[in-house]
Amino acid sequence: MSKKTIKDIDINNKTVLIRCDLNVPIKDGNIEDDNRIVKSLETIKYALKHAKHVIIMSHLGRIKNEEDKKKNSLKIVCDRLSDLLGEKVYFCTYDEDIKNVVQNNKIVMLENVRYFDLDGKKESNNDEELSKFYASLADVYINDAFGVSHRRAASTTGVSKYLESAVGFLVEEEINKLSILLNNPEKPFCIILGGAKVSDKIGIISNLIEKVDNIIIVGAMAFTFLKAKGMNVGKSLVDEENIEYSKNLLNKYSDKIILPVDVYVSDKIDSNDKVLKNINEIGNDDIAFDIGPKTIENIDNVLKQTKTVFLNGPAGAFEYDNFSYGTKEVLKSLKNSSAKVIIGGGDSASATIKFGYKNSFYHISTGGGASLEFLSGKDMPGFENIGE
Ligand code: 3PG
Repeated sequence: MSKKTIKDIDINNKTVLIRCDLNVPIKDGNIEDDNRIVKSLETIKYALKHAKHVIIMSHLGRIKNEEDKKKNSLKIVCDRLSDLLGEKVYFCTYDEDIKNVVQNNKIVMLENVRYFDLDGKKESNNDEELSKFYASLADVYINDAFGVSHRRAASTTGVSKYLESAVGFLVEEEINKLSILLNNPEKPFCIILGGAKVSDKIGIISNLIEKVDNIIIVGAMAFTFLKAKGMNVGKSLVDEENIEYSKNLLNKYSDKIILPVDVYVSDKIDSNDKVLKNINEIGNDDIAFDIGPKTIENIDNVLKQTKTVFLNGPAGAFEYDNFSYGTKEVLKSLKNSSAKVIIGGGDSASATIKFGYKNSFYHISTGGGASLEFLSGKDMPGFENIGE
């Protein structure tokens, strides 16, 4: 897939509306990770240099009630963007005369577009009137929100029907780099899948299974596969609905699939204790929260031979120090390998940054669900009205 970019259209002296994905994690009133804001700067700076006015729009969280609205104002993100740009970004609520505000400012950020979800889910249901309203604010539309382009929303699909549209640099980079995995990954090619749910990964497995040399399965989803093999996984998390799917996959591709051989178990996730067990020693009351050193050794041996890797999903409950070993060691192995490494998924991206590997890999995708949908070969509604 290749799309027209902001450089391919004339934005000189125009009002440019840029849809970013500034859905950043916020805790106790602080932005925990501003990567998505930083990654949006290139397009915003380019627009500031050439356009007359720049309008930024984004969602933050999901808005179902007034309480969500209070918690998810983009004001804090606007302040961080102003700091990073070294230029004041005017923060505009929907009570203001937006067109007038835009005329009087070089750069404006609109409040969270999902505020419109309180009114019949207009943003998330791609409401026509709302799409036209967004379009009425500008001359040109740029989609730089890769992370939400798998959603058919008014600020992604809808608005781009009514304005000359292109993608921004962040989206261009995501499409180019993720497409390597779909088109011509240098072999051997390995994917490492972790996290909780098998169901989230079925699309990518189906689309890539014939291309990959190995699938390493870690994290909680490994226990669904181990249970499918008939092993006792104690009280570890299992995606019961997908045991049959996992069994079939194991039957057909047993030579490609690599599962944990040892794990750290405990009785609760926030425990300070853990016991290392071989995979066939898990007891009825054990809950496995992380992979062990023999599994890491196996992964390391595979990665030493691998030329391209896609990682999606942590190897263990890395948010808890006691169970962060596996996730850290997988990242260390990836860094020490000579493979082209692409990281996708919100949790894996956070872990990569948290454990100090921000600049160690070929690409860290800003997309969670979006990168999985893209790699599943599905259409991306956010790009469908943007030409090639
Ligand atoms: C994400 O964080 O994956 C994107 O911002 C999309 O958010 P959503 O899942 O709430 O649509």
